[in-house]
Amino acid sequence: MDLTTAPRTLAIGPLRLDPPVVLAPMAGVTTRAFRRLCRQFGPGGLYVSEMLTARALVEGNDRTARMLRFDDDERPRSAQLYGVAPGTVAEATRRLIGDFGVEHVDLNFGCPAPKVTAKGGGAALPIRRRLLADIIGAAVRAAAGDGVPVTVKFRRGVHDGLLTALSTGRIAEAEGAAAVALHARTAEQRYAGDADWEAIAELKAAVATIPVLGNGDIWEAHDAGRMMVETGCDGVVVGRGCLGRPWLFADLAAVFAGRPAALPPAFGVVAGVMRRHAELLAEDEGEPTALCAFRRHAAWYTQGYAIGADARRALGTVSSLAELAGLLDAIDPALPLPPEAVRWKRGHTDGPRPVRLPDGWLRLVDDPTPPAGAEILISGG
Ligand SMILES: Cc1cc2nc3c(=O)[nH]c(=O)nc-3n(C[C@H](O)[C@H](O)[C@H](O)COP(=O)(O)O)c2cc1C
Repeated sequence: MDLTTAPRTLAIGPLRLDPPVVLAPMAGVTTRAFRRLCRQFGPGGLYVSEMLTARALVEGNDRTARMLRFDDDERPRSAQLYGVAPGTVAEATRRLIGDFGVEHVDLNFGCPAPKVTAKGGGAALPIRRRLLADIIGAAVRAAAGDGVPVTVKFRRGVHDGLLTALSTGRIAEAEGAAAVALHARTAEQRYAGDADWEAIAELKAAVATIPVLGNGDIWEAHDAGRMMVETGCDGVVVGRGCLGRPWLFADLAAVFAGRPAALPPAFGVVAGVMRRHAELLAEDEGEPTALCAFRRHAAWYTQGYAIGADARRALGTVSSLAELAGLLDAIDPALPLPPEAVRWKRGHTDGPRPVRLPDGWLRLVDDPTPPAGAEILISGG
C-alpha cells in the first residue's frame, strides 16, 4: 500500500475534501452531535446527516426538521435524501438548500429494508432505470442554480444474479451527479460477509468522468488506503468503523498525510468523548431522550474494553448525564483496548436475507411511474 501516490484531495463539484473521506449517512447515528465529534477529530472531510425522507421534508414533518440541525461552523452542510418520485425529490432538494442552507445532497438508493424494497423503493429502485434517471436528474437540476453538488449512494444490486451498480453509476454520471458511492454489498447481503471491493474497481472502470467513492469494511485507517490502492477509487465512505470511535477520522487524516495512526486510546480518553457526545445529544434532544439514544453508542464506545459486566449493564440503562458521569468515573481510565478488538465488527451485521420485489418489477425497467407506497414517511429509518 502506498498512499503517497494517491491524490489526497477529492473534488465533489465545488467542494474540496482533504482527506478524501466521507462519514457515511447512518440513521440514528450521524446526528449533529456525532458529526461535530467526527469533524473535530478530522476536519476536512464530508460528514453526511441521517437519511431524510423527501416527502416528509416537503410535507413539513417536525422530526425531519429536527434532523436538519447543523452547527454554525459545520461546512459543508451535507444531507442525505430518500425519495422515489422526481417531483418530490426536486422540491425536497430545493428546501434543503433554501431553508436549511444545505451545500451537499446525497441520494440514497441502497436501503435494503423489506418494507421499502417490497414496494419498489430503496435498493429495488435502481432496476427501474428510467425512473432512477428522472429522480437523479430532477435533484441535480433543482440544486444546480445554487451550485450544490448531488451525489448518489447505492449497493452492488439486489442479489448476485441482479446487479445494478454499473448501470446506476453510468446513469448518475449521465444525469449530472457530482460523485457516486458504492456500498459494495448487495441488498440481499445486507451487512453480512465482506464487502466486495472488486465491485468498486469495476465501477471505477465504468464511470470515468466523476469521482467514485468506495464503501464497506473500513475498520481501521489503513483500510482506507488499501481500498483506494486496490480499487483505484477516489475517496472512501466510512460507516460502522467509526461507531464509538469518532477519532477514526483523526487516524484517517494522519494516514492520508503519511503519518502513522494513533494507538487506540486508553479508556479515560474514551470516557471523555462519551461524556461530550452525550452532552451534545442532550442539547438537541433533552436529557431523557438523549441518554436513551446514547445507550447503543455506549455499547460501541466500550466494546473490547474490560469494563466488567456490571458497568456494561448499567450503561445499557443509563438515563441522565450525572449517572453517566458517575458510571464512567468508576471505570479504570488506564484500561487498554486489546489489539484484537480493533477489528471487531460493530453496528449492523445481519444478513443475508432474500429481497422481496413488487410483482412484475423486472418488466418495468423503462416505466417512469413512481412506485406507490414506497415513500416512507419516517426520516432516519
Ligand atoms: C446504524 C446504521 C444506519 C444506516 N443508515 C443508513 C442511511 O440512512 N442511509 C444510507 O445510505 N446508508 C445507511 N447505512 C449504511 C452505511 O451508510 C454504509 O453504507 C454501510 O454501513 C457500509 O459501510 P461500513 O462497512 O463502513 O459500515 C446505515 C448503516 C448503519 C450501520
